[in-house]
Amino acid sequence: MAGTDWTCSHATMHAWEFLDYEPSLPVSEKSNPLTRDIDRASANNIVRMLQACDTQIFQEDSEDTYQRLSSERVVETIMEVAKRVELILKDPQDSLVVLSGCGTSGRLAFLIVTGFNKALRELNQTSIYSYIIAGGDRALLSSQEAPEDDPKQGMLTLKKVCEGKKRVLFIGISCGLSAPFVAGQLDFCMQHPEVYTPVLVGFNPTHQARDDPMPGCTFTFRSVVQRMQELSKSQKAFLINPAVGPEAISGSSRMKGGSSTKILLELVLSAAHAATFTNMPVTYKGILQHMEAYKQTLDITYAQTAEIAALLEAAGQSLRCGRRVCYLGWGSVAILGLIDASECNPTFGADFEDVRGFISGGYREMNNNEGPLSSLGSDFRVTHKDFLHLVLPSLNDQDTVLLLYTHSDNIREVAKLAHRAREKTSNIHAVYHQVDGAAAEQQDDIDRLCSSSLKITWASSPASGSLLHMWELSTKLLLNAVSTGAHILKGKIYQNDMIDVQVTNSKLYRRATRLLQKLSGYPESKCEEALLKSLYQVDTLTIDITSSDITAHTRTARNRTKVVPLALVCLLTGCTVMEAESHLEQQPIVREAVETCLSKLV
Ligand code: F6P
Repeated sequence: MAGTDWTCSHATMHAWEFLDYEPSLPVSEKSNPLTRDIDRASANNIVRMLQACDTQIFQEDSEDTYQRLSSERVVETIMEVAKRVELILKDPQDSLVVLSGCGTSGRLAFLIVTGFNKALRELNQTSIYSYIIAGGDRALLSSQEAPEDDPKQGMLTLKKVCEGKKRVLFIGISCGLSAPFVAGQLDFCMQHPEVYTPVLVGFNPTHQARDDPMPGCTFTFRSVVQRMQELSKSQKAFLINPAVGPEAISGSSRMKGGSSTKILLELVLSAAHAATFTNMPVTYKGILQHMEAYKQTLDITYAQTAEIAALLEAAGQSLRCGRRVCYLGWGSVAILGLIDASECNPTFGADFEDVRGFISGGYREMNNNEGPLSSLGSDFRVTHKDFLHLVLPSLNDQDTVLLLYTHSDNIREVAKLAHRAREKTSNIHAVYHQVDGAAAEQQDDIDRLCSSSLKITWASSPASGSLLHMWELSTKLLLNAVSTGAHILKGKIYQNDMIDVQVTNSKLYRRATRLLQKLSGYPESKCEEALLKSLYQVDTLTIDITSSDITAHTRTARNRTKVVPLALVCLLTGCTVMEAESHLEQQPIVREAVETCLSKLV
């Protein structure tokens, strides 16, 4: 495995932590030395590499480098924010806690908010949590990248959600400290300190926050962060931004960024709930113990390397032959399935049908702000009934079906659906979380129907932390491994970069240009030129194109496929866009097409 670790006086330092490692990039965009060869790895090794990467979430801080999850400052801020939530829980009148983000960050805001509101309802308490996702609820299930670039929309949405409130704790999530949508909201909070206290959650040090100008704004994300830092001295704003290391696939913040978001926010809200409802004050030790439970969850999950690898192989095989992967889930682990599936389009340029999630109970179970979305089109039909009508009739053994459930779900129902799916495909697998000693009725029946069953057994009373949160994290890690691994096996990744990245917002546009620079060795201007030619499908750029801004480019990119691979082939071979298209048609495995071009250059 690539990547050198060095032991210094305090802890082991990973190669990416050295100041001269990809110095121009923030941690969230760096490439992880541990996964440099992930595109060539076996399924087993892919899982091991992902495990090594995820383990970096809990790595302790090394001298003079980055603050980490368990760093004193981070734990203290978690405690301070938990105490603010506690105040609101104790006196919820006219108050709100808002979690907001774009893409995965918004989806996790939704998951966490609906989960904690449910816990409040069960205690007969007022719901105090609200979520915002850029692009609205349709972004929970589909890729809506453009709204991320709109700071004004972020601000207006927040204002609307908080109408009439006198006290709001606003938690903005941007893994890369980069989303203009969130920056607009944080700026708005600072302009109205009598109501709003802003909290920022992300995974870069503050000096690496994005400094690009934003449409209609005098501020950048970085300048917002700097103002928040000033305010944090008097606890009028809070920053929780440990480094968790580069993503396994560069920039894929749905992975570690998403997992760390879930861990951090659950630490905050669980501590506040325990302090309010069970008289357990928020303590430093309590936070560390809870963190340890998450670390154990990671270890327990990855202890099943061979089983995860088998799932990944099955899913990879389906995708390779143009067939599909379906997640059929129950309860909140089903939501993790919906989230993972929704990310495959923007991350790997996958078709919506390639990986698709379904949830028992549909939108009623999801309890999202806007209610049922099925009228938006078949992509938004998410119930098991929808699966039976829309998908099952065309399934065959080349499609992979993955059942996701826990022992508190209706196992009889799981068995029933497994029987229905088995009529069409033998390629059924189960991921099942059970509590020690609880033998589920009908589980044997399900096992007989499945080609593999990944059972994770949990101690009934974890030392700390809610079991459901651990099941959710475990499911997230598993599904991220399955969908990422399957797309790697499909040839969508070159080394550890998503070469077929969509160019649908400014962050992705910049990332695409950088990727072209890295792979071609050409200067930025030439790479951006190639990107635009590929995007507009022209061999000569017109004034119209060069005088348009990034927003116009990213809007055009919505209807294009393989923009970056095409640009790269053009750059490497000097061919026209049309020639590059036919080249990629002959060799649809992007990694191999690129390698052929690269080898011709040597
Ligand atoms: O725009 C794409 C994307 O990278 C998503 O994959 C991600 O979830 C979202 O942006 C938000 O990123 P961040 O949390 O860094 O603002």
